[in-house]
Amino acid sequence: MDERTAALIEKLETRHFLTLAEYESLIGYMIEKPASDRAKRTSEDESPTGHQADEAAALLAEKASAVRQRVYGRDVYIRGLIEISNICKNDCYYCGIRRSNHFCERYRLSEQEILECCAQGYELGFRTFVLQGGEDAHFSDELVCRLVGQIKRNHPDCAVTLSLGERSRESYQRMFDAGADRYLLRHETADKAHYEKLHPPQMSFDNRMRCLRDLREIGYQVGCGFMVGSPYQTARTLAEDLKFIDEFHPDMCGIGPFIPHQATPFAKEPAGTVELTCYLLSIIRLIHPNVLLPSTTALGTIDPQGREKGILAGANVVMPNLSPISVRKKYELYDNKICTGDESAQCRHCLEQRMESIGYHVVTDRGDVRGWEDSKQVGYERNA
Ligand code: SAM
Ligand code: FES
Repeated sequence: MDERTAALIEKLETRHFLTLAEYESLIGYMIEKPASDRAKRTSEDESPTGHQADEAAALLAEKASAVRQRVYGRDVYIRGLIEISNICKNDCYYCGIRRSNHFCERYRLSEQEILECCAQGYELGFRTFVLQGGEDAHFSDELVCRLVGQIKRNHPDCAVTLSLGERSRESYQRMFDAGADRYLLRHETADKAHYEKLHPPQMSFDNRMRCLRDLREIGYQVGCGFMVGSPYQTARTLAEDLKFIDEFHPDMCGIGPFIPHQATPFAKEPAGTVELTCYLLSIIRLIHPNVLLPSTTALGTIDPQGREKGILAGANVVMPNLSPISVRKKYELYDNKICTGDESAQCRHCLEQRMESIGYHVVTDRGDVRGWEDSKQVGYERNA
């Protein structure tokens, strides 16, 4: 690895942020690898070799693991993901459940079904339930508030996370007042022009950012995030994502590889890579030592050992599926999504074994972000 890259990693470890240009350089070091790795490489070629990029990735992972170990030890938090509806008014170009996908068989879970998933999850040791879905008007504020209230009454020691897309500030406030603890809303990309290449004109970058600010101000533990390798993504747009993350200071950050879905406009686009996803996971851990960082199902989809690799790169959360088996296949955001045929108990135990195999332990815990009140404060100060 060259001296400049080693110095950037050192700086990131000690100061927890870099300039936009420095993030771009660090990412470029990894992204340039494939092109420069060919036999036609000349002696004047100064771009990194695959070996050098691997060295940088290994150093980042080593530092990120040490930081994660200091904050969270070898504990891995589990979140029970309940996919409550695949009906969506949006038409994101990358997403398998987008409105225009007429091959998608639509469903929504009933209140009873969702409560049963939580009860089953509770028995399996889950202490966080994530209700995720498309933007489905059926899930009105009234319905979501009733559900959240009932889950909290049934399981007072559990956290409820919502991931229901963009809503009004009033809506977020009502759901928070009903007891919701956390909200996941990936920003998708921090570059407005890039955002507009991934979404139809009806969708707005500014509104997505407004939602994230509102959620933070209301008092949720907030998660942002993006896909790695999404079409039109560059080292520059990724650097903007990292700058946004270091300034917004999210409590959670969901990143996973983009994977094409056959019935979307991006069907022919290449998927993101495990290497770049893990590289970015390590960088994000060094930016925010306390962040809750999932090793995603998408990572496990592009590589059978993907979730283990994500944890070893600095992640500390996994999100097994608690949705009823009958709907799993229908919530297909991308092709070949894993775990669509397994019972919840199987998913839970499979992940437990996978974590044990690399020396980590799934714990029965709400898994709140460490120093959450402090991190909220830091976020405000850094944004001021
Ligand atoms: N509707 C909610 C929202 O917009 O936040 C939650 C559901 S949405 C399907 C959850 C996330 O799935 C998105 O934020 C996106 O990053 C991810 N996703 C969608 N399509 C994907 C794909 N083809 N590959 C990887 N991730 C994808
Ligand atoms: Fe709405 Fe994907 S387009 S969830």
